[in-house]
Amino acid sequence: MSIDIARVRQDTPGLDERLQLCACGAGIMPAPVLDAVIKHLQLEQSHGGYEAHALEGETLDAVYTDVARLINAQPQEIALVENATVAWCQAFYALDLKAGDRIISSDAEYAANYLAFLQREQRDGIVIDVAPALEDGSVDVDALESLITERTALISLTWMPTNGGLVNPAAAVGKIAQRHGVPYLLDACQAVGQTPADVQALGCDFLSATGRKFLRGPRGSGFLYVAERRIESLEPAMIDMFSATWDTRDTYSLRPDARRFENWENAYALRAGLGVAARYAKGIGLEHIQDRARMLASRLRAGLADIDGAVVRDIGRELSAIVSFTIDGLEPTQTVGDLRKRSIHIGSSSASSTRLDAEKRSLPTMLRAAPHYYNTEDEIDRLVCELARLRRMG
Ligand SMILES: Cc1ncc(COP(=O)(O)O)c(C=O)c1O
Repeated sequence: MSIDIARVRQDTPGLDERLQLCACGAGIMPAPVLDAVIKHLQLEQSHGGYEAHALEGETLDAVYTDVARLINAQPQEIALVENATVAWCQAFYALDLKAGDRIISSDAEYAANYLAFLQREQRDGIVIDVAPALEDGSVDVDALESLITERTALISLTWMPTNGGLVNPAAAVGKIAQRHGVPYLLDACQAVGQTPADVQALGCDFLSATGRKFLRGPRGSGFLYVAERRIESLEPAMIDMFSATWDTRDTYSLRPDARRFENWENAYALRAGLGVAARYAKGIGLEHIQDRARMLASRLRAGLADIDGAVVRDIGRELSAIVSFTIDGLEPTQTVGDLRKRSIHIGSSSASSTRLDAEKRSLPTMLRAAPHYYNTEDEIDRLVCELARLRRMG
């Protein structure tokens, strides 16, 4: 069954007023997500935060199940956190890395992740190996495998980068990681909600994701998956009396589940919204979502090809729904602002968000658009028309 677009758009009032084409920045929440957030906040208003939590305990516990189902994990393998960066860092900083330990990264690595590598390089003496890319821009899995030594302590991969349509071969890397027993941390921030994500098939030990992008959850929500087999060996970088119990004056024990990466105080209203967003996406079907978002992205790439001076900057054999491009004579930040005045929302991406790739390809700041399944062909055509008009005027 294909997606009932009329129904989806009815659920998404934000689409009536603006042309929303930046799901890679922040997707638009459907009404049931917003309703869940508001309902919980109202309960907090009437009963106070603790009572509201007690009343909604079951629903809030079910969020772990909703998120786990989305990625084919177990609820005890999920930690609910504020965003993808916190999720990723919770896993990364829990790794006991010593001087001389090596981590493998790749050209598409997200800036926040690479900054964390640099910090531990300078602080702990770890060594960063960057796996080369194939000609199409995706990571070369054979070359990545040949970088593995007995000191390799982590493989880190950004599945779909922030700066364009590349889709890295996340499952193939997972096979290599498993074959060598090397922990594998997958940044799935742009993938979750856009594409089917199955941690068993991906073979990752950790997966980080955010709520607000393609998953259409509220801002300030995200999650970390930690494979059960890894949980016990991980000491979170910081703990409190939720992640651990203070057993005797001098001893503590960590929680046995992935919630050892959480702490005591949380935005429960946002969690409620995240759970609904996970169910909503699953209800529509991730295969359908992926097909439609990618179809709209291809339409946009085709439309851009007809604009004089436009260059689509996406690389990779398989392309996601993130479209990166430049247009001669159009400065990206200014263009985003000009489009905003006409109620069209896209974004831009600067070199510093994915420096390795940007330097390698000498990328300038680019325009970045990402249709989602809730968009229509007409909306894509309207964006193309507006860009062509700006180009003529510019
Ligand atoms: C690939 C990738 N990883 C991680 C992040 C960070 O996500 P968050 O802002 O939720 O921490 C982003 C955000 O754009 C991203 O594109």
